[in-house]
Amino acid sequence: MKQTKVIAIANQKGGVGKTTTVVNLAAALSARKRQVLVVDLDPQAHATLGLGLEKQAGTSIYPVLLGQRQIADVIQPTKWSNLNVIPSEVDLAGAEIQLGGLENWQQAIRNALAPVRESGAFDYIILDCPPSLGIVMTSALVATDGVLIPIQAEYLAMDGLALITRSIEMVRSGLNPALSLNGIVFTMINSQARLTTDVMEEVRNHFGDKVYETTIPRNVRVSEAPSMGVPVVFLDPRSKGAEAYKAFAWEFMAKNPTRVTNETVGNNPVPPAEPPAAPANAPVAGEGVVGA
Ligand SMILES: Nc1ncnc2c1ncn2[C@@H]1O[C@H](COP(=O)(O)OP(=O)(O)OP(=O)(O)O)[C@@H](O)[C@H]1O
Ligand SMILES: [Mg+2]
Repeated sequence: MKQTKVIAIANQKGGVGKTTTVVNLAAALSARKRQVLVVDLDPQAHATLGLGLEKQAGTSIYPVLLGQRQIADVIQPTKWSNLNVIPSEVDLAGAEIQLGGLENWQQAIRNALAPVRESGAFDYIILDCPPSLGIVMTSALVATDGVLIPIQAEYLAMDGLALITRSIEMVRSGLNPALSLNGIVFTMINSQARLTTDVMEEVRNHFGDKVYETTIPRNVRVSEAPSMGVPVVFLDPRSKGAEAYKAFAWEFMAKNPTRVTNETVGNNPVPPAEPPAAPANAPVAGEGVVGA
């Protein structure tokens, strides 16, 4: 029996690696036999495209929010097993306004996802949020158990974190008391730079173990993959970026278990840094089942 976890990947700042993290976390989890549903809430549809799908009119969460379609009808399989997506579509651009017009807009995404969540069909439902603190992101925060924040280690990173953590607090104190900060993950890291290490230290001092150990390096293969519609963990599993996302998915799974498995029993919820079933440089897609 799975206990579905709904995670929003959010940061009001643009271009910090939200969508890249959604796509590759989802792909790496699916390769570990976790059932994953990505919900693309961004009209830019980069998660949809990055997972090899096209925008299709009428196939998104949007008509579900408006009561025009059933959620089961908008869930699309990808080319890879265990990996599904509710795509974005052009109309999502107007959703911010129309959604705000709904009587119960704050609960709209939560209500739309409820049947899928309760079905237990998925381990993880991962929401890709647009870069703003607007209506879509607020509704996403109401719908989720946890928020994962990708950030770059750069000047004013703490200021950005303060803004989004305040939004999380607001939603937690009102509409979704169960909401928590799932964690913070550093993306596009250039570990040579002094500023990088200073910022990382500052964030770790402030947020402690909420900061994931795994960091994602800047890697050209990661930036090339979206144009091919293939997550880098599948496109080039041995690239530095793919290795990092696989390790990150492993750490994420350990912190957010959805099943009782041999990864989490024995009073040892934290697995070794690398999956025991496969060497770290093995292609993720063909790996054996780990405790599934
Ligand atoms: N680790 C990485 N190495 C190199 N390039 C990266 C990496 N992560 C992301 N990128 C590139 O940086 C750009 C922004 O990434 P991404 O689209 O994931 O950010 P985002 O936060 O979702 O942006 P938006 O706020 O517009 O939704 C993209 O071109 C992406 O390919
Ligand atoms: Mg994005």
